[in-house]
Amino acid sequence: MQESPKTAPVAVVTGANRGIGRAVAARLARDGYHTVLAVRDPDRGRHAARDLPGSVTVERLDVADADSVTDFARRLRDRHGRLDVLVNNAAINYDTWQDPLGADLTVVRDTLEVNALGAWRVSQALVPLMRHRSPGRRIVNVSSESGSLTGMGAAAPGYAMSKAALNALTRLLAAQLAADGILVNSVCPGWVATDMGGPAAPRTAAEGAASVLWAVRIPDDGPTGGFFRDGEPLPW
Ligand SMILES: NC(=O)c1ccc[n+]([C@@H]2O[C@H](COP(=O)([O-])OP(=O)(O)OC[C@H]3O[C@@H](n4cnc5c(N)ncnc54)[C@H](OP(=O)(O)O)[C@@H]3O)[C@@H](O)[C@H]2O)c1
Repeated sequence: MQESPKTAPVAVVTGANRGIGRAVAARLARDGYHTVLAVRDPDRGRHAARDLPGSVTVERLDVADADSVTDFARRLRDRHGRLDVLVNNAAINYDTWQDPLGADLTVVRDTLEVNALGAWRVSQALVPLMRHRSPGRRIVNVSSESGSLTGMGAAAPGYAMSKAALNALTRLLAAQLAADGILVNSVCPGWVATDMGGPAAPRTAAEGAASVLWAVRIPDDGPTGGFFRDGEPLPW
């Protein structure tokens, strides 16, 4: 772990202490971003960051807690004064044990609070730090094909609804930020072997991260307001 060089572009990855978020953070750090691992538990975050390459810091952030988000934004502003890339990755409750009619709506509400409103809350707090007009400003919402209305069945209802809502957030933010040149896209990482995806998943965290990173690396005249996996459009 090293301190931020003042000139490096700054990237924030939420939920970066494990899984796809950690793999995305590792890659961004290697690519030259000062990378902020935004994590609920800084001890676990420091453990996750200990052998990452490049310039990395760890900051406390609970995306479901408005005060935590406000504090995080203040610290980011004080330490870096800018943000270039925001990866809204944190998520919970792939609720495969539920069906729509039997679903515990408390679980559904918690899921929406983190997966959809969390990304919205963090975006509201951090976009003011992205108004510097440098090239390469991106918001990537880590979504899932589970949130595609086209293919939606009865499975994992809270999670599916949360990702559909996250996709709507992508459309809303992309529309508002188009004039600022900030590109906003949803990305599905595929089925990835993490705590959420389980050990049977065919993709590694690095492979899932590659799908996410595509939306960071697109050029400034690239797509905004889209939904992609591996750089290919997915149906809403
Ligand atoms: N794995 C898959 O097959 C798959 C497929 C499609 C989409 N995705 C999406 O990919 C993203 C990453 O998933 P993953 O598989 O890497 O999941 P994961 O291994 O379960 O990791 C989830 C991360 O989110 C963090 N998190 C949860 N609630 C948070 C909160 N309130 N504030 C801040 N951080 C919070 C967790 O932190 P703690 O360690 O503190 O709990 C953890 O770091 C998610 O958006 C997920 O929906 C995954």
